[in-house]
Amino acid sequence: MNNEIDKIKEEIKVFNPKTLYDLKKFKNKFLSKKKGIIKFLFCKLKKIDINKKKILGKEINYLKKEVKKKILENNNLLIENKLENKQNLNFDFTEPGEKLENGSLHPISIIIDRIIDILENIGFNTYENSNEIEDDWHNFTALNIPINHPSREMHDTFFLRKNPDILLRTHTSSMQIRYMKNNKPPFKILSIGKVYRNETISHNSNYIFHQAEGFYINKQVSFLDLKEVIFFIINSLLKRNIKIRFRSSYFPFTEPSAEVDIYHNNKWIEIMGCGMIDPIVLKNVGINENKYSGYAFGLGIERLASIIYNIKDIRIYLDNDIRFLEQFKSEF
Ligand code: PHE
Repeated sequence: MNNEIDKIKEEIKVFNPKTLYDLKKFKNKFLSKKKGIIKFLFCKLKKIDINKKKILGKEINYLKKEVKKKILENNNLLIENKLENKQNLNFDFTEPGEKLENGSLHPISIIIDRIIDILENIGFNTYENSNEIEDDWHNFTALNIPINHPSREMHDTFFLRKNPDILLRTHTSSMQIRYMKNNKPPFKILSIGKVYRNETISHNSNYIFHQAEGFYINKQVSFLDLKEVIFFIINSLLKRNIKIRFRSSYFPFTEPSAEVDIYHNNKWIEIMGCGMIDPIVLKNVGINENKYSGYAFGLGIERLASIIYNIKDIRIYLDNDIRFLEQFKSEF
């Protein structure tokens, strides 16, 4: 039996598995509970006389340890194999992929992105810090709409608190005040956001809509600069030569003031108000009205989007109807 044990010792010593299969075979050969060599040797031991039993028993236990050591030494084969299996499971590159549905941007977001693109290209900076909750001074008074001024009635305001008045802004012109009081001219600013009016809801007007407010202050800014920029914006957005008209109008914060209409589906549609910023407003925000002048315009985004996409009812923008929104996928 001694001879046999020496042979096995040698076999264990030189064993050098290349694959996990080799290792498993080795483990089975020695440690299998039914047919393993170790088990076989222990069985043989039973018939041997007691004195030799002790010595040989130790030897067989030593063999068992060596086999286990060998298996541990080659454990990396096992780990590598596990990784390989895992990769095989997770990444079968030949399998056709699962189709993912693309989302879409809201049409108002699409138009806002386009306006930002167009205006940033001609030197406007976007002022992101937009307040939807305003106080009276920023929304009205500083814009030359003092208390009891009849033009306040044009703004159907949602008041959050009275005395002092806190409200949901009725237009983005309040952003002119917020920016101008904290910055020195010259500047060319674009501010876009939601505005709120307590109006009767119809296909043509809603209580929430979006405006894009642009304003430019420098020395010697003229009405011609304003007309030029408005023609440029409308032509860039509509990508064709559409009929545009300036209609004389009134806003307390611009002088002169105009309304801009565009001709669509055989009628004139009003899409923005504009004008030269009234010197009183410049004075209210601490800008020298003798040195500087400027223009401002406020564009209604829903109206414009309705013209671009031929939409008949303005309420649909707030409906969150997936069938409507899905149609803008190709624009994404
Ligand atoms: N704030 C005006 C409105 O909401 C639009 C406007 C903006 C007019 C800037 C003149 C200058 O109707």
